[in-house]
Amino acid sequence: MNIFKTKKELQEYLSSSQQREKKVALIPTMGALHEGHISLIEYAKPLADILVCSIFVNPTQFNDPQDLEKYPRPIESDIKLLEAASCDILFMPSVAEMYTPQEQWHVDLGELDRIWEGAHRPGHFQGVTQIVYKLFTLVQPDIACFGQKDFQQVMVINRMIQEKKLDIELVICPIVRDEYGLALSSRNARLSSQGKLTALALSRSLEYVRSHFENKPLETLKEDAQNILESTEGVELEYFTICETTSLSEATEIEVGKKYVALVTAWVEGVRLIDNMILN
Ligand code: PAF
Repeated sequence: MNIFKTKKELQEYLSSSQQREKKVALIPTMGALHEGHISLIEYAKPLADILVCSIFVNPTQFNDPQDLEKYPRPIESDIKLLEAASCDILFMPSVAEMYTPQEQWHVDLGELDRIWEGAHRPGHFQGVTQIVYKLFTLVQPDIACFGQKDFQQVMVINRMIQEKKLDIELVICPIVRDEYGLALSSRNARLSSQGKLTALALSRSLEYVRSHFENKPLETLKEDAQNILESTEGVELEYFTICETTSLSEATEIEVGKKYVALVTAWVEGVRLIDNMILN
């Protein structure tokens, strides 16, 4: 695996005559890799000739400085995992390599920036789109793979691709869960064994809604799911909602031909967890 720390090295490599005709897949990450990330690499493999994974803990998408500070950075084990997964290129730049001081610009994300995660983490999606746009411009991938786990993020990136008219295929890879149903996340490393059990309330509430989606009214489903979460000791619910998948506007009735997703965010042992499930 080639490891590049500067944009220049990466660009020189990708634009060399040998690489130019090849199909490139980009898998952006913030490191602390787990099976969920590796599944993105596996998903991308048959779709591209060159797999570029980036590891960059992007400061502009954190609204809590402590969260940024606490973000795990196990780079040695990340490199081993990527090598074992036969990733071709790892790009791991410094903050100074990616940002100029005081950089300020943003993409118009409309409502997507103001609802759910956007409302609870102001500025978060602007930070995400800034770094992803920079990576897209640099790597110029044919495809870019993101996990469904961060559902709103995927919709935001989809919107940015349309807004900026980028010729990139967005590939959404399924959520990877542990044997009990907990969605894999780098943040799970901060949960105790008991915390991991408590956190199963999230997938339980989603599974409940999915399995009753066809036969219970939306309001009842939402209330029942909220009850599952709020009656679980150790879970502090932030929101549970059922939305239409592309706009993420809250569903009030089911329209034929549209797809719906349930989104949940809750805190367990001081860790903010998110999860979601497509319902139809
Ligand atoms: O999902 C993530 O890990 C990050 O938000 C991303 C897409 C790598 C941008 O920093």
